[in-house]
Amino acid sequence: MSVRASQKASRFTESVIREMTRLANLHGAVNLSQGFPDFPAPQEVKEAAMRAVAADVNQYAITWGARALREAIARKFTALYGVPVDPDREVTVTCGSTEAMIAALLALVDPGDEVVVFEPFYENYGPDAILSGAVPRFVKLRPPDWRFDPDELGRAFGAKTRAIVLNTPNNPTGKVFSRVELDTIAELCLRHDVVAITDEIYEHILFDAAVHLPMATLPGMAERTITINGMSKTYSVTGWRVGWTIAPPALTGAIRKVHDFLTVGAPAPLQEAGALALSLPAAYYRDLAEAYAGRRERLLKMLEAAGFVVYRPKGAYYVMTEIDAFGWDDDTAFARHLVQEVGIAVVPGSSFYQDPADGRRQVRFAFCKKEATLAEAERRLARLKPR
Ligand SMILES: Cc1ncc(COP(=O)(O)O)c(C=O)c1O
Repeated sequence: MSVRASQKASRFTESVIREMTRLANLHGAVNLSQGFPDFPAPQEVKEAAMRAVAADVNQYAITWGARALREAIARKFTALYGVPVDPDREVTVTCGSTEAMIAALLALVDPGDEVVVFEPFYENYGPDAILSGAVPRFVKLRPPDWRFDPDELGRAFGAKTRAIVLNTPNNPTGKVFSRVELDTIAELCLRHDVVAITDEIYEHILFDAAVHLPMATLPGMAERTITINGMSKTYSVTGWRVGWTIAPPALTGAIRKVHDFLTVGAPAPLQEAGALALSLPAAYYRDLAEAYAGRRERLLKMLEAAGFVVYRPKGAYYVMTEIDAFGWDDDTAFARHLVQEVGIAVVPGSSFYQDPADGRRQVRFAFCKKEATLAEAERRLARLKPR
């Protein structure tokens, strides 16, 4: 008997980010690697979930999402951004934005089609491309501002391009794409008949008066954009696995079919709680961003004091850093040293690039953590010395 994995599954490794969380647990390290909050989720959102379980909302929801949640998603997007959304024909609820992304790609891409991806990128996009048969064309975001070169982007578009994957506010860089940058991308999408798949899960975590502009708000783009979002980050419930897509009806039809056979549906009672969460008042989102702004300052200060070069994020809850000061020329070895000897888990920069060499001098810290966690990280960072 020959037992072997598929070629697809052999072409990517397990998630470095989630492996770092396991290493953090093994070594008792402070976990500043994986992007999950270690503070409580909002009480009213938790209570809504408990009420739904008690009321026996415990069987399959409608495959493409409970009505109340789809209506809340459509209402909120229209209220915030002025784009009309039909909850019956344009919204699909998925198991997290993770499923939304792979379902979108499987619905859109045939093997050999090209997908443009900005790099550094959230590590899931690599395996997502392999699983869907897409050929990724990477375009660099360069520090300190993580700008892209419009000519380089233009050269990445061609006859085979089906989609561009965009994540704003961005993980890992903290970049928030500007109107001018989005116009450049939109113009290329329109010229080459390409769909934009935009991961906007950090839409409410913004700093320094940065403004989040969904791609779907640009002229001509709602018709060719799959907007991906979810509850994980905005409501601090990464374990609930509730996400969604907003897309024009033809694309939504394909996404719903793929989603149905991948997972049937997202957790029914948590979708009910989602409907309540998405109806929280504006003050909730203001407080969320303010609390993260405080955590960002705290982490930036302690990283600078420890000797890291830091890139100040405009959004999301990560800080990309350069590790030159510490005498390591390998990000993975440095991250292993940090988790084993210093007691802090981070993500090696190489996991955000196709060519690991591009991230060899970088590591990413997450600051979605309570004050006590950040204070402990600060104490431990005092142990970090150059080699
Ligand atoms: C850019 C980005 N997209 C998607 C996800 C996963 O989100 P979800 O929990 O909704 O699957 C993350 C999690 O860190 C992320 O950073």
